[in-house]
Order: sequence, then structure tokens, then C-alpha cells
Amino acid sequence: MELGNHNHAAATLVTFCLLFSFTFSHASSFYPELNPIKPRHSRLLRSAVQRETPTSQLSEIWSPLENQGWKPVESRNKPTLPEKSEGYIQVFLDGGLNQQRMGICDAVAVAKILNATLVIPYLELNPVWRDSSSFMDIFDVDHFIDVLKDDISIVKELPEEYSWSTREYYAIAVRDTRINNSPVHASANWYLENVLPVLQSFGIAAISPFSHRLSFDNLPMDIQHLRCKVNLQALEFVPHIRTLGDALINRLRSPQGSAGEIGSNYLQEVTDGGDSKNAGKFVVLHLRFDKDMAAHSACDFGGGKAEKFALAKYRQVIWQGRLLNSQFTDEELRSQGRCPMTPEEVGLLLAALGFDNSARLYLASHKVYGGEARISTLRQLFPLMEDKKSLASSYERFQIKGKASLLTALDYYVGLHSDIFISASPGNMHNAVVGHRTYLNLKTIRPNLVLMGQLFLNKTMEWSEFEHAVVEGHQNRQGQLRLRKPKQSIYTYPAPDCMCQA
Ligand SMILES: *[C@@H]1O[C@H](CO)[C@@H](O)[C@H](O)[C@H]1NC(C)=O
Ligand SMILES: *[C@@H]1O[C@H](CO)[C@@H](O)[C@H](O)[C@H]1NC(C)=O
Repeated sequence: MELGNHNHAAATLVTFCLLFSFTFSHASSFYPELNPIKPRHSRLLRSAVQRETPTSQLSEIWSPLENQGWKPVESRNKPTLPEKSEGYIQVFLDGGLNQQRMGICDAVAVAKILNATLVIPYLELNPVWRDSSSFMDIFDVDHFIDVLKDDISIVKELPEEYSWSTREYYAIAVRDTRINNSPVHASANWYLENVLPVLQSFGIAAISPFSHRLSFDNLPMDIQHLRCKVNLQALEFVPHIRTLGDALINRLRSPQGSAGEIGSNYLQEVTDGGDSKNAGKFVVLHLRFDKDMAAHSACDFGGGKAEKFALAKYRQVIWQGRLLNSQFTDEELRSQGRCPMTPEEVGLLLAALGFDNSARLYLASHKVYGGEARISTLRQLFPLMEDKKSLASSYERFQIKGKASLLTALDYYVGLHSDIFISASPGNMHNAVVGHRTYLNLKTIRPNLVLMGQLFLNKTMEWSEFEHAVVEGHQNRQGQLRLRKPKQSIYTYPAPDCMCQA
């Protein structure tokens, strides 16, 4: 499977699986499999720890992307507001933060198609992430309204006469003003034919579900540009997330700076000299390796019999044999690139790509199955590894503590501003950040999971051969611009809809 082409159906599936596993997340939040986790690729690991990265490789991996001749598109037509609003559009968005982000962009587009006034989207409480933060807790709502003020009308709340139109009102009965049947990737015409009449009769239409409910193809250019504008200009995180993000970025860039009240791990020895290739630079690694994902893949992650048993049991309880993957052997799954990489494997990939042990790594991650036992192998290869916890003081973390959406927002922000971003896990976060960085022409490495799976199966390969194959297999996966193909997401592939040739 190619990461970048990871489609929405699959991304939704992951969310879907997570939803089902919710009831077990308490039980699975610790690692019950008591055996210590041994490295799975100890031969490679030994060589990787002792690696000497040639200067040429080091300078190549840290060098920024060259200009590829594309720049952000500017809409030719001056935006105009409709003379009169057809009514209010309300959307209820489920999924995690990055799925909701796409929903917000689509909601603006649908309101524009219908000449309607948009009510600030309602973010549903996600049963897995359980963060009740509202749009305004996450995004700068005044900035949002201001950037779009010439395109559509937006209100923070419904006026008094429509205040009955709430989530609770729709939860308890079938209502005429609720649209619950929008097809996946519906056309503009579908909205004109099915939602406009509701607006005209009632003055309001509430659309739910609304995830992935607007087509990526056959829409007027202005509507596509508007979606880009929402995603890439109008959606900014609230000031306290940006301020904290900037502080973390500063600490990653100049680690000698004042430590103040920063977390305990922060004052690590700085080994990079002033003139080395990566001085002041950092790479963000997005790694999702939680129990749901591990179990869902049905792969073997080297935790021995206890882990195998625990994951099989988890699969049985949650998916009850409905998983296709469990029909394949670990070897088959690996050679098809269907196994998420473990922290150890991601470490080997990064080491082979040419990151030496002075590389500063920011780990954007929620929860790693196996915890520190699993992360320690990665840390062995990259001792200067940081995360939100090690970089921010407990005081700084107080406002976002336990709030999954805000934690994700912070990781998104730091990931967006990193010198290099690499996501080891396909999904909405990967897609959103990859798309945004493409727009800004920033270096982004996309792991080749098929190749990595095959290399990790080979138990006799020497480090030099492994390294060579990894470098070769990732030459064209470092941010080279890929044009969107039909059906692909405009948010993952911003060219050519949001960008044009300079
Ligand atoms: C929206 O407004 C524009 C211009 O004001 C008009 O041309 C268009 O037909 C309107 N569309 C709808 C669905 O009302
Ligand atoms: C493992 O890699 C080595 C070196 O590239 C190669 O000669 C050998 O055939 C590979 N083994 C398998 C089972 O693919």
C-alpha cells in the first residue's frame, strides 16, 4: 500500500475500528504483556547504533526541498457574498481533529454552493479521544470568520428564532430539517437538489453525518479554491496553541536556550557542533502505534507469545473474526506492507536514511503500545528525542492536558513547522500534514511500507545492504510534488487545485 494514496475509506475504517474498541480502552491502556520486548532486528540494530553517517549523506538528508516551481494559487475572481442568504447550514462533525478539519472545509464549500449562512461547525464528542473541546477552543474563530468574510457569511450561533435546532433536538426524533442521507462524496448538484429546498422551506438545514460528504471532482474552480483557502489560510489554531507550539519549536531549534521551568528530560547534552548540517534543525516523527492498530493489523511485533496472545484475544473480543488480515501469516502481511512499523523499525529506517545520533527528533505520538519498553529502542538510536512532555513544563501543559484534540493540534503545529516531517502511520493526520507541507514546499518523507516490510523479513541482510536499499527506495518519497488524481483528496494533494505553476 502506498501511504500517500491511502484512501478515505481506509482512513475511515481505522476510525471505525477504534470506535468499536472504545469500551476496552481502559483495560488496554497499560501493557499487560509482561515479557520484556526484545528488539526484533537485533543484528541491524547493533550496526545502526554504531553507524557512522558519511557527511555527504548527512547534508543531503537535512537539505531543504528545492523549489519545484509551484506556488499557492490566487483566485482570479474577486469573491462575492450572495445578495441574500438562503438560510442557515449547520453541520455536526465526527472523527478526530483532522477528519473534522476536512469537514469544516467542506461545510464552507457547501454553504457557498447553497448561498447559505454557515453556523460554526459543531464538533461531536469522539468516543475514543473523548475531548469535548469546541471549534472555538481549538481554532481561532475570529480569524476564521475574518478570512472568509468576503466569501460566505458565518455566525457563531444561530439567532434566537432557530435556537431549537440543536444536537439534542435531532438526537431524539426524525426531523424535517435534518439531512441524514448525503452520499459519500456527493456532488454540488446533490446539495442544490436535496438541501436547498429544505433551506427554502424552513430557513435551516442540519447535515449529519457530514464526513467525506462532498466530492473532490467536478466542482467549480472557485469552490475548490475556497476549500483550499479554508484549510490553508482560515483555519488557525487558537493563540495559546500557537504560542506553546512556537516555544517548543524554539527549544528544539536552540536547545542551549534558557530552560526555565521546562520538563526534566529537556536538558540533554547537546552534541551537535555549531557548524554541523543539522544544527538548529529538527525532524518530527508522527508515530501511531497503539493497541487497536497493532491488533487490527494482525502482524507479529516481536513481543513474544504473551503479546501475540494478548493481541489475538483483543481481536477476538472486538472484531470477532471479521478481520481479513488474520487469515494471512505475518510474513505475507509484511511483504504486502500491511504491518505498521514498530518504533524500533522506524528507528532503523531513519538511521538508514542518514540521520545520525545527533539528529533532534520530536515524537508526535499519542500512546505507544508497549510504552517506554518499545520506545527505548528508538531512543537508543536517537538520544536527542523529545516530545510534548519533555519539552514543556507541567504548567504549560496544564491547559491541554488530557485533551486529545488540543494535543493533536499542538503536534500538527510543530509538525508543520519542522524541517522534516515523517509519518510512520497512514491516516488523517498523515494526510493533513503531508498536504499542508506540500503547499508550503517542505520536506516530507513518506515511508515505503512494502519495501520496509520486505527488507525486515530478510534475516541475513547486512547493514550496508539494508541502508542502500532504504536510501534507494526513498529517493522519490521526500516531498516531490504529486498532482492530485481523480477521486483523491484535495486536502492531501493540494496541487493543482490549490497551487499553480510559478
Ligand atoms: C447564489 O448567488 C449567486 C449570485 O448572487 C447566484 O448567481 C446563484 O444562482 C445563487 N445560487 C443559489 C443556489 O441560490
Ligand atoms: C536477503 O538479502 C540478501 C542481500 O541483499 C540477498 O542476497 C538474499 O537473497 C535475501 N534473502 C531473501 C530471503 O530474500
